[in-house]
Amino acid sequence: MINISPESLLSVMKSRRSIRKFLPDAVPDADIESIIEAAAWAPSGSNQQNWEFIVVRSPEVKERLVEAVKQTIATMADNIVSARAKTEFTGYSAYYTFFADAPVVIAVVQKPYESLARRIIIRYNLAVAAVSTAAVQGPAAAIQNMLLMAQARGLGTCWMTGPLIAQSLLEKELGVASPDELIALVPVGRPAVTPVPPQRKKIQENMRWM
Ligand SMILES: Cc1cc2nc3c(=O)[nH]c(=O)nc-3n(C[C@H](O)[C@H](O)[C@H](O)COP(=O)(O)O)c2cc1C
Repeated sequence: MINISPESLLSVMKSRRSIRKFLPDAVPDADIESIIEAAAWAPSGSNQQNWEFIVVRSPEVKERLVEAVKQTIATMADNIVSARAKTEFTGYSAYYTFFADAPVVIAVVQKPYESLARRIIIRYNLAVAAVSTAAVQGPAAAIQNMLLMAQARGLGTCWMTGPLIAQSLLEKELGVASPDELIALVPVGRPAVTPVPPQRKKIQENMRWM
């Protein structure tokens, strides 16, 4: 039996926010380990646990990651013809680079997903979509567990895929090589802001009974 009411569980989920500004306070190793432990308890296809978490504390490494994203943004912006689109795109770039100010950044790596069922499905060319999306769903569940544990520990996070515009540069910097794949960055730190919760759609809009 778990010792948490459905209402308490929902309130933890509802009070988690994407944090994009952090205090410089150090985050203890024990907090990071507890966040990774929460990730490890996520479900994964065939319990493959096909993930790896790279904890980046080094300001130099962080700086190189940010530079890679900024340079990619600049190169992409150079290729945008419309002035308006260029301004809009570069205006959005802060949403890809703010992880620079977090004391810790966790890089989430998806590892190959293997199972007997998968091999059979591929051999007979069946249900390819089911196979191809299984690999990412375990690591994605792990990320959500991380965000919630961080929240429970008073730490702010943000699930970030924007920086992946510089995916191959980031992978090189982090020592991630194919078939492994960087799928997200998660900055972690004490929140410097208390964001207003973005609205959610009414549940009826996104569900149907059959
Ligand atoms: C897969 C995924 C990718 C995201 N990538 C980014 C990102 O690159 N930059 C960013 O600022 N927020 C990113 N977010 C955060 C969303 O913008 C945020 O979850 C959403 O606006 C709802 O706000 P909340 O998390 O505070 O409830 C991402 C979220 C998810 C789930």
